[in-house]
Amino acid sequence: MKHSSIRQAFLVTAIFSFVNLMSYTTCSAQASSTFKIETANSISKVPATLWGIFFEDINFGADGGIYAELIKNRSFEFDKPLMGWTIKRKKAIEGELLIINQKEINATNPRYLQVSTSNANTGSLGLINEGFKGIGIQKGLGYDFSTLYRQTSKGIKLHIQLIGKNDQVIGEATLTPAETGTAWKKQSIHLNATETEPKAKLAIWFEGSGKIDLDMLSLFPEDTWMKRPGGLRADMVQMLADMKPGFLRFPGGCIVEGTDLANRYQWKNTIGPIAERPTMINRWNTEFAHRPSPDYYQTFGLGFFEYFQLAEDIGAAPLPILNCGMACQFNTGEVAAVTELDPYVQDALDLIEFANGDVNSKWGKKRTEMGHPKPFNLKMMGIGNENWGPQYLERLQVFTEAIKSKYPDFKLIASSGTDPDGERFDLLNNELRKQNTDFIDEHYYRPADWFLKNAARYDSYPRQGSKVFAGEYAAHADKAIVGSDRSNWQSALAAAAFMTGLERNSAVVQMASYAPLFANINAWQWAPDMIWVDNLQCYGSPDYYVQKLFSVNKGTDVVPITLNDKPATGQNGLYASAVVDQTSKMLIIKVVNYSDRAQQSDFNIKDSKSQATAEIAEMADMELKRVNSFATPIAVSPKKSSVKIKGQTLSLNLKPYSFNVIRIALK
Ligand code: AHR
Repeated sequence: MKHSSIRQAFLVTAIFSFVNLMSYTTCSAQASSTFKIETANSISKVPATLWGIFFEDINFGADGGIYAELIKNRSFEFDKPLMGWTIKRKKAIEGELLIINQKEINATNPRYLQVSTSNANTGSLGLINEGFKGIGIQKGLGYDFSTLYRQTSKGIKLHIQLIGKNDQVIGEATLTPAETGTAWKKQSIHLNATETEPKAKLAIWFEGSGKIDLDMLSLFPEDTWMKRPGGLRADMVQMLADMKPGFLRFPGGCIVEGTDLANRYQWKNTIGPIAERPTMINRWNTEFAHRPSPDYYQTFGLGFFEYFQLAEDIGAAPLPILNCGMACQFNTGEVAAVTELDPYVQDALDLIEFANGDVNSKWGKKRTEMGHPKPFNLKMMGIGNENWGPQYLERLQVFTEAIKSKYPDFKLIASSGTDPDGERFDLLNNELRKQNTDFIDEHYYRPADWFLKNAARYDSYPRQGSKVFAGEYAAHADKAIVGSDRSNWQSALAAAAFMTGLERNSAVVQMASYAPLFANINAWQWAPDMIWVDNLQCYGSPDYYVQKLFSVNKGTDVVPITLNDKPATGQNGLYASAVVDQTSKMLIIKVVNYSDRAQQSDFNIKDSKSQATAEIAEMADMELKRVNSFATPIAVSPKKSSVKIKGQTLSLNLKPYSFNVIRIALK
């Protein structure tokens, strides 16, 4: 070490010791914190479902997100049939490219492209697809281009090129349609990428002479999750799998409701062959005038079968939410007549059969044909998303009677509206509790303060009767903060404090999920969000790491923890909960210091192993506005350390604005 560096190191150490001394001085002036934990006293079991995931196709979370299709408007079904496509040609010839609509013959996928050429070659006639704000291409990776086609005679070839930002070709191959006839055929070709480019384009050049019909022009990377052709983005699914979620709620969110009933989510339109799933406008396309998303549609390539499969892959219980015969009450509020709810109720009953039915049942057979003869073991569903009012109660009753009379043990989740308090909430909460509804779905998008003040919200909830599903929540920064900057440490830390209250009360709150899950950094509508993605990468926000720490440290039994003999619900900014994992014989304490000073704390644990070491995962940052980003993806993320326990006491200096998960082996 050079002399100057030694001097510098000394100076840094001296400053550091001074700062430490200061924080010690501050903290010695205030009441000391003693946490007592009764490891042998199980208050309640922790439900396996406690921490889960909320998935909605918002912020380009599905198309342009986790669904790995790279071509936008692959089937020309957007309202403007060539949206996302640009025609390239040297000389326009009338009628050489036609979008044909055969709605009478094929109602679900009516449009296709007809190409008629004579002596065409690369550069003379083609189509460019812009992808979802570009196409993410990685050097060395393979890509599969495929198309449906039909031709009566051979003559046209498709020269496929991946185009980089300087218009250079970064991958190419030629597809020669092999068959003739009147039936549609599928053919694929593999391309290797020679460069990495986050915003590439795809060019399809027509070569030769003749006529050909084309549809479902598609490009997928070869490295999808579990290498499933036409599957999901592996990096995004991995983020979910790493959370070990207890359940997967899908497909939303307001997308379930639709702006009107015609625009509601109908699961039967999302299963079966991909080319037969009708494309539909995404309701977030038009929702926010300040975030216009005219190119936001749902292809349903990620449909209900794929949602069930995803849940199974990541070990989560499936939790579908169905439309209850009501469109979004912030939009049209259109409702189906109570006497005409049959198709809606039938959808719910059929979904249970699709998920669980025997291979010979009507819907079980469809699941089997899609490659999953084994049931998906569906045990619960939500009826309605954020619906409210007496009109909701009326419709819910019809669903409840029909489902419970056929499947008495099946659990139903009912909405309590958009807010966790107020008249609408009170009406539903009271009525649903009278009816002993299985689960009541509570949503809270509130400022950080609300989460801190509500850490004890469920301490007084009745232990008997309806359980709570905290189905959507996130602490929201004030509106001056926009986009990914809203997914900051303050939001995450306030949620962590609140979540100690959920965990402590998991006898009542049996499921909880942060929302929304994903946001495409170039195409979001709603923030904050848990995971931010672009065309090539994703990163977890501080909220992601908080959610993950709770989920992977779920334990099996809630045990009492007190702070200076009182509930640990915010004295001096400290919030705590504790669980024991009976399987691994571990005590797991979660403690939040939501204050600007370090706090010396003693944790009294009677049953720790002698000579035990506490393993600590700590998230701490004095800057509450700190965010993660593509450049600094783990700026706010857990750091691990270990501390020896002296006797039966673990002494820790809890850093300012910190969330700590402490694991201690028990006798
Ligand atoms: O998570 C975003 C939206 O918030 C959901 O779609 C809706 O249920 C809630 O209002």
